[in-house]
Amino acid sequence: MEATLLSSQHLRPRLFPAKPAKFRGNPTILDTCRTMIIGSTGFMGHFIAEACIYAGHPTYLLIRPGIISATSSSKNNTIKSLHERGAQIIHGSITDQDLMEKVLKEHKIEVVISAVGGESVLEQLILIKAIKAVGTVKRFLPSEFGHDINRANPVEPGLTLYNAKRKVRESIEEAGIPYTYICCNSIAAWPYHDNTHPADVLPPLDRFKIYGDGTIKAYFVTGNDIGKFTIKSINDARTVNKSVHFRPPCNLLSLNDLASLWEKKLGRKLPRETITEDDLLSAANEMCIPKSIVASLTHDIFIKGCQINYSMDNDIDVEVSSLYPDTPFRTIDECFDDFVLKIVDVAKVVDKAVSKDGINKIIANPNPGAIVTA
Ligand SMILES: NC(=O)c1ccc[n+]([C@@H]2O[C@H](COP(=O)([O-])OP(=O)(O)OC[C@H]3O[C@@H](n4cnc5c(N)ncnc54)[C@H](OP(=O)(O)O)[C@@H]3O)[C@@H](O)[C@H]2O)c1
Repeated sequence: MEATLLSSQHLRPRLFPAKPAKFRGNPTILDTCRTMIIGSTGFMGHFIAEACIYAGHPTYLLIRPGIISATSSSKNNTIKSLHERGAQIIHGSITDQDLMEKVLKEHKIEVVISAVGGESVLEQLILIKAIKAVGTVKRFLPSEFGHDINRANPVEPGLTLYNAKRKVRESIEEAGIPYTYICCNSIAAWPYHDNTHPADVLPPLDRFKIYGDGTIKAYFVTGNDIGKFTIKSINDARTVNKSVHFRPPCNLLSLNDLASLWEKKLGRKLPRETITEDDLLSAANEMCIPKSIVASLTHDIFIKGCQINYSMDNDIDVEVSSLYPDTPFRTIDECFDDFVLKIVDVAKVVDKAVSKDGINKIIANPNPGAIVTA
């Protein structure tokens, strides 16, 4: 298996400082694990890959063949950037069991983390066969990174995704592979019900769409923190065969809370439009994938309260902020400050000559028109 260098400049922002923790003499790193990550060119996977490299683990990224010649320069740039920081690139697909067995053996992989997208969830059944056949993997983290799928019960088409993820859990447990299920809840950003990856999208600048009465709370966690705490869990004996729930109290907010906080940052009020339960159910019912999946999960979160309507009373449950009480989570307040900075960046790109006063005006009144004409 060859490490491969790809195209030039990378666009994704660097999420962690350039030097991995082990080179900085970080005393918290006791052990490193040879870790293979599947899905590092994807939304969730790249946060995990960044965190893994930063934590000093020997990191192997499984990349599907075809990416190099494909038109997606941002994926190429992501791979190049991760490779430059020490990750080894392995080409292959989890659908190739023989190759997976070879890779796991050849690189003596101890931890496998999968962050494949919704359409590939069942392909993990082949990966599980390979992991079982090799018998040396100490921990497998399947592609979960959302709700506790054994508790939440969304309407279709979210339910089909959850059923696939449930099947993967069953198969892991039947095979006797040590596992950790990451239940990290929502991404810290405005939860647009028609957007799969809202982390890079600004919160509303014109009007809020509030689901139901806007009072149901959810946990909003940054991608960076999902990566960091996922990696902390991989060699922690307390997380073997457990579901790790991300429930940091400081990140528990309702949509009304989020809206008020964003209005404070903008320095002005925005109108609020109610998106009813029926609106969300109709959007789910359209069966337009992946948007309808997001609508069904939005319904589950903000109407049914699926992130907060259970207590952590099963033996299998552990809560991440109580496992690592000394490591803070980034708050929504801080994330919203980042979004304000993005508005400033956009303004700078749109008009390099924009004055400091102009930027202040945009922050105070950041509608897209203002950004373009500043
Ligand atoms: N909590 C949340 O708010 C939230 C948000 C988004 C996602 N999620 C969850 O996070 C997980 C990942 O989703 P995502 O949206 O990040 O996925 P994504 O952006 O679609 O990325 C999927 C990744 O998996 C790779 N992949 C797919 N099939 C593969 C195969 N057979 N072999 C090797 N690599 C393969 C893709 O490679 P290519 O580059 O070749 O396509 C890509 O890197 C899912 O379980 C999803 O439900 C949670």
